[in-house]
Amino acid sequence: MIQVKDSLFTLHTAHTTYQFAADGNGFLLHTYYGPRAEGDFRRLLRFADRGFSPNPNALADGRVFSLDTLPQEYPASGVGDFRVPVIEARFADGSAAVDLRFERCEVRKGKYALEGLPAFRGDDAETLAVYLRDPCTGLSAELLYGVLEDSDLITRAVRITNGGSAPVTLTNAGSLCLDFARGDMDVITFDGRHTMERIPHRRAVAPGVQSVGSGRGITSHQHNNFVVLCDHDATETSGVAYGAALVYSGNFRAAVERSQFDHIRLVSGISPQGFSWTLAPGETFTAPEAAMACSNEGLGGMSRIFHAAIRSHLCRGEWAHKPRPVLLNTWEAFYFDFTADEVVEAAKAAADAGVELLVLDDGWFGNRCDDRRGLGDWFVNEEKLPGGLAPLAKRIGDLGLAFGLWIEPEMVSEDSELYRAHPDWALRIPGRPATMGRSQLVLDFSRPEVRDAVYAQLCKVLRSADIRYVKWDMNRSLTDVWSAALPAGREGEAAHRWMLGVYDLLERFTRDFPHILLEGCCGGGGRFDCGILYYSPQIWTSDNTDAADRLLIQYGTSFGYPVSAMGAHVSAVPNEQTHRTLPFETRGVVAMSGTFGYELDPRKLTPEERADMRSQIARFRELYDLLQNGEYDRLTDPRSGLAAWQQTAPDKSEALVNVVTGLTRSNDAFLTVYPRRLDAEAVYSVNGEWSDTGAALMYGGIPLPQEKGDFRAMQFHLVREGA
Ligand code: DGJ
Repeated sequence: MIQVKDSLFTLHTAHTTYQFAADGNGFLLHTYYGPRAEGDFRRLLRFADRGFSPNPNALADGRVFSLDTLPQEYPASGVGDFRVPVIEARFADGSAAVDLRFERCEVRKGKYALEGLPAFRGDDAETLAVYLRDPCTGLSAELLYGVLEDSDLITRAVRITNGGSAPVTLTNAGSLCLDFARGDMDVITFDGRHTMERIPHRRAVAPGVQSVGSGRGITSHQHNNFVVLCDHDATETSGVAYGAALVYSGNFRAAVERSQFDHIRLVSGISPQGFSWTLAPGETFTAPEAAMACSNEGLGGMSRIFHAAIRSHLCRGEWAHKPRPVLLNTWEAFYFDFTADEVVEAAKAAADAGVELLVLDDGWFGNRCDDRRGLGDWFVNEEKLPGGLAPLAKRIGDLGLAFGLWIEPEMVSEDSELYRAHPDWALRIPGRPATMGRSQLVLDFSRPEVRDAVYAQLCKVLRSADIRYVKWDMNRSLTDVWSAALPAGREGEAAHRWMLGVYDLLERFTRDFPHILLEGCCGGGGRFDCGILYYSPQIWTSDNTDAADRLLIQYGTSFGYPVSAMGAHVSAVPNEQTHRTLPFETRGVVAMSGTFGYELDPRKLTPEERADMRSQIARFRELYDLLQNGEYDRLTDPRSGLAAWQQTAPDKSEALVNVVTGLTRSNDAFLTVYPRRLDAEAVYSVNGEWSDTGAALMYGGIPLPQEKGDFRAMQFHLVREGA
């Protein structure tokens, strides 16, 4: 619900309230974001004459009003606020001050959409548009707020228009600013590296600016664009926690600053580093969307808001809610070395175990016999696959399996027909040797003719056979970001234009192939974000398939993203990445809390393992809805040595408690796991073997059997009796 009264803007969701105000001089001041509360929070604004905190001239409030000390809604720079700004611009006269003042607002039914950019949807949502203008330069901003009331989600986006008569260059166009009139908060960021993504790091917000971001052209394996602020004592179940996700997949910055007066500011948006965007008079730039949620049920409550909103309001298309197939991916089984017969044999063994989809990964096209060639040539390598994809898909289909394919549209190898024909299509700086990544170059997708040529090839191949799934990969960071299509002086636009080009292609793909289940991928989880989830309901979480490492990767990922978005597979042992050998059951339990599949050669499994595979798939199918759509609780941090998590049906009729022990120790202590949020009064049967009340289970716990061996997995299926 959006209320506008006396220049006070109050956005209520079911359990939260967000409020800001325009003061008499048109300054937009932030007053409150937190658990739902009625009231006029302008009473929290405090004014004082502070040394070195400037005052706008000709104000009645005189020296007690300073943008440097007040919580703001969309802060600029150059006119008195020295904290980290969300908007910066350079004007024709060389000046760089921006002073946006309130002009008017509109409340609309439904949620705004953003042309060419991903965004949450919400038929029952409302939009508040607030129009600001700089009286000196004519620069204006339309602040957009989407209120998804039942989902407890508030989204923001900004359209910036040059209302002056000369060009303006934006040097920073952030999406979100959240000011808190308090300094006692923790920040949690999700950091890592290739094959070890989104590991949570929590620390108190310290004086000054702390930031994470990416300049790699992709969200990155190193830092995620989802961040959390919370009470120092917030736990999984208590305290206030705020999450902020950027609905974007390119360069970003998320910065928190604790100011001199112990206020905290969070800003998030496209990274200003290297960014600039020139607006001719009348032109508009749209900053990507950011989504915010707040919960007073701790980090768990905050995560569940994002999980539900991503599933219901971000993921689109027929696969958003349809049960996803259990797949066999050929990558770790074959890498580049396969024949059609071998793939069919593997598919046959997989079909026997209950697999529903065979995904042919890298290596099926051009001269792709290793990772040094072939990218850009999206036609079938008939030496490996005589007759093309159609006969292979048919043979796989005859086994009862759907057929899926891997692609990497943004890339080109120097050793490819595409590159030989169009060397100028790759991102390169003329006169400078190219910087390589995985021996490949990035195509300049800011240019429509480049996108069109790649898309035409892809359409042909995707229409050549019965293809039901596509894995869209992307395997290097962007360098030499320079586009032949941009005039000199506009290079700062290239990275964002490239991202818009990728989105354009993804949009066309989802429109033209609605029946294809799309899985995002970027060397695993290098582009795991809400931007990609708008186009593909699942993303390959990490190139690390080791179940022990996956416990931590999936734990970290779960803070912002649902199980139904996390690609997870059982792979062979010793594991390809860590050389660790974990029990088959453990690998299954971990992968089941993701979009389940296998990444091994099923022909090489022992008869016992094949039988285990069959029963794992049957169990996954039986518990599908609970596993994929159940409300998620992180019961422990896997770094504690015991990993435990729980999925619960919204009506609490059943829950699944998943446990993986750590390294075993001789003569070890007994372990107990404590389920959460059960119906306290009800009686639950545990694995059909014994029963107790919800209260007894939650507070007394479930005693774990003392099994010998490292990383032992257990699942406890709690079913409410009489349900
Ligand atoms: C990186 C992906 O994450 C892997 O799963 C695999 O598809 C390879 N690329 C193929 O080159």
